[in-house]
Amino acid sequence: MIERGTLTDEFVRFNKASLRLHYGIHHSDATIQTKLGLAEPKGFLTVHDQEIVAGAVGYRWPITLRRHRALPAAGIGEIAVLPSHRRRGLLRALLREHLRESAEEGCAVAVLNASEGGIYGRFGYAPVTADCTHSWDTRGAGLRPSPSGPAPGYTVDMPGAELLRTVLPGLFAAYQRATPGELERSAPWWRARWDSPEAVGAAQDTHHVLVRAPDGTASGYACWHRPTAWSLGSGAGPVVVEELVALDHHTVRALLTCFAELDLCSEVILRRRPLADPVRRQLDDPRRMRVAEVNDRLWARVLDVPAVAEACLTLLDAPLTLLVHDTDGRPPAQWDIVPGADGPRCVGSVRRAVDLELAIDDLTAVLLGAATAPELAAVGRVVEHTDGSTLILARALAASSRPHCSTAF
Ligand SMILES: CC(C)(COP(=O)(O)OP(=O)(O)OC[C@H]1O[C@@H](n2cnc3c(N)ncnc32)[C@H](O)[C@@H]1OP(=O)(O)O)[C@@H](O)C(=O)NCCC(=O)NCCS
Repeated sequence: MIERGTLTDEFVRFNKASLRLHYGIHHSDATIQTKLGLAEPKGFLTVHDQEIVAGAVGYRWPITLRRHRALPAAGIGEIAVLPSHRRRGLLRALLREHLRESAEEGCAVAVLNASEGGIYGRFGYAPVTADCTHSWDTRGAGLRPSPSGPAPGYTVDMPGAELLRTVLPGLFAAYQRATPGELERSAPWWRARWDSPEAVGAAQDTHHVLVRAPDGTASGYACWHRPTAWSLGSGAGPVVVEELVALDHHTVRALLTCFAELDLCSEVILRRRPLADPVRRQLDDPRRMRVAEVNDRLWARVLDVPAVAEACLTLLDAPLTLLVHDTDGRPPAQWDIVPGADGPRCVGSVRRAVDLELAIDDLTAVLLGAATAPELAAVGRVVEHTDGSTLILARALAASSRPHCSTAF
């Protein structure tokens, strides 16, 4: 019933109609072509009943799981079923095909952005990152002095489009490889970012500031715009920072100072920030930067337990045996994970007694650093059969930072 193929005009029409029907989004054909051009070339899944009645699009990119440690991820997006064909199992069939194919092709993790929170848990996906909007009252705002004294001479400027196109992809790549949860942005993604920003969910008409370290190398950037037009008497207005990427803390400071000192601006809205944003800790008064909105962003599902466990549990100091409950009628799987000189080894087994029992979505949340085993044990999502095994798992992940994903798809 499921067909897999390349991008067709019929799929573009289906996607355009679905966006209007389900989300009220009106994109031009050109924007849709650009957006769908970022998908895996043979990643277009459809179900026909005379015409396309259900469809989805597959993507492939590396995802950073630990600092400088990435594995291939399979994304699915643009999922839509015509209202006339809903609740007949078409979404389930699309996902089954996507997960089967992605696992066969060696993807370690499956990821998606969910339109609603109640749909994808049943397929083994867990929310692993949150997008947070901070509202920062910059009137009289100050930054805390650095413990090592005044920062060296970092500079902030607004370079022309040509330089931005050259520098930003490399800066983001350096940040992405060091940040768990971030997806790689390909050259076509960056082309779309400049030529058709809507296609990658970016605001039109953004300005950019670029930070340079004292030796002149670029060390970070921010994209921003003013959402409201100024009129005489309206005074200072808000500025929206869509993306802030910094490779070191001096750069964070330089960017915050730049926005705190902007003329005709009393509020800086920072979008797509992590929930526990370390940026706030640079402020004299952290309460001036309030959380205005939180939404889950990346949902993930481990496809290859050994690969992800070995990539993530690098600090494992004692053997662990996990019993992992899967979805879609698959039997539970037992995994032995043992520490080793070259890193942990994870093998399927039934030899040892089970230490911890949990579902695949909760295992995903723990391995990707979105939740800890003790937190999930406290709410009954991780069952500890051997005393202390929850802490062994938590210790093995102690060095990981909470994941963040700033690329929507
Ligand atoms: C959401 C949507 C894709 C579901 O497709 P569908 O073919 O009706 O789904 P299925 O019949 O395969 O349902 C599979 C399971 O998901 C459940 N489900 C489907 N839609 C759901 C929803 N909106 N909320 C909660 N559960 C939902 C079904 O009850 C079923 O559960 P079960 O098999 O465990 O009993 C479809 O209604 C749609 O296109 N909606 C508008 C666009 C959208 O939200 N797309 C998702 C983008 S992330």
